[in-house]
Amino acid sequence: MNSEVPQPPPDPADFDALYRGDFDALSRNRQPPGTEQLPGFRFDRVPWDIGEAQPVVRALEADGQISDEVLDIGCGPGENAIFLADRGYRVCGLDAAPAAIDIARGRARQRGLDERVEFAVADATDLSDYADRFTTVVDSALYHCFPEEQRLRYVTSLHGACRPAARLHLVCFSDRVPDDFPGPFRISEADVRDTLTEAGWDIHRLERSTYTTAMTRADMENQDSAPLAAAAAGLDHDDRGRLLAPAWLLTAERR
Ligand SMILES: C[S@@+](CC[C@H](N)C(=O)[O-])C[C@H]1O[C@@H](n2cnc3c(N)ncnc32)[C@H](O)[C@@H]1O
Repeated sequence: MNSEVPQPPPDPADFDALYRGDFDALSRNRQPPGTEQLPGFRFDRVPWDIGEAQPVVRALEADGQISDEVLDIGCGPGENAIFLADRGYRVCGLDAAPAAIDIARGRARQRGLDERVEFAVADATDLSDYADRFTTVVDSALYHCFPEEQRLRYVTSLHGACRPAARLHLVCFSDRVPDDFPGPFRISEADVRDTLTEAGWDIHRLERSTYTTAMTRADMENQDSAPLAAAAAGLDHDDRGRLLAPAWLLTAERR
């Protein structure tokens, strides 16, 4: 939330706590001691759980960009995976947070799709149990959770889980997300381009896009923080008032 202060990477245990209802888990003020302590961001829901697939994932599917078998990596509550299963694809959703996997399985069951989508707990930086399996990977807002020193390991791990010529569609926060907006690491074009290329991915598309959040401008104004409200005011929103975080959409092919 403050560009002057290096942000610590999110702790995987915090994601699990968040999914179990501790909504402050990721946004507690964790700046290093001795630095200016900013007011924490308080929210009453999972800030990326929009209860449906991301519009960008729907658009990729409509454009014929998905093929069996699909990996939804860092699937969270499973909405992208469930959407793709409903569209007829074989899908595997993986997340490091056991609570996310419980939620995803519950939603798949409720929608009668539990036979068509598999969810499991896994660390995306070690996918050795899934070697050479997938032909499409969807990363909807996981890459930007990793600090710089872990990103290469992560996309190398994805490479190992894919078959040759598999496609990776990756959506991550870009460096146009305002500093005061809560959230993960901001990713530069050079970062994502160089990291993917080094790990054996040929980039076919790298363009500006948006990631739909579960937060509205009103939610941000209710935080009683002028910087947060100003950051939100600078973002576009959809017709339901949900803030759209500036993002990269990258499509790459496994060499
Ligand atoms: C910002 S959320 C995005 C969730 C979902 N893809 C979506 O768009 O709604 C990032 C997800 O990545 C998961 N995650 C974080 N680190 C991970 C890791 N090392 N391996 C697998 N999942 C991880 C978190 O638990 C969280 O569910």
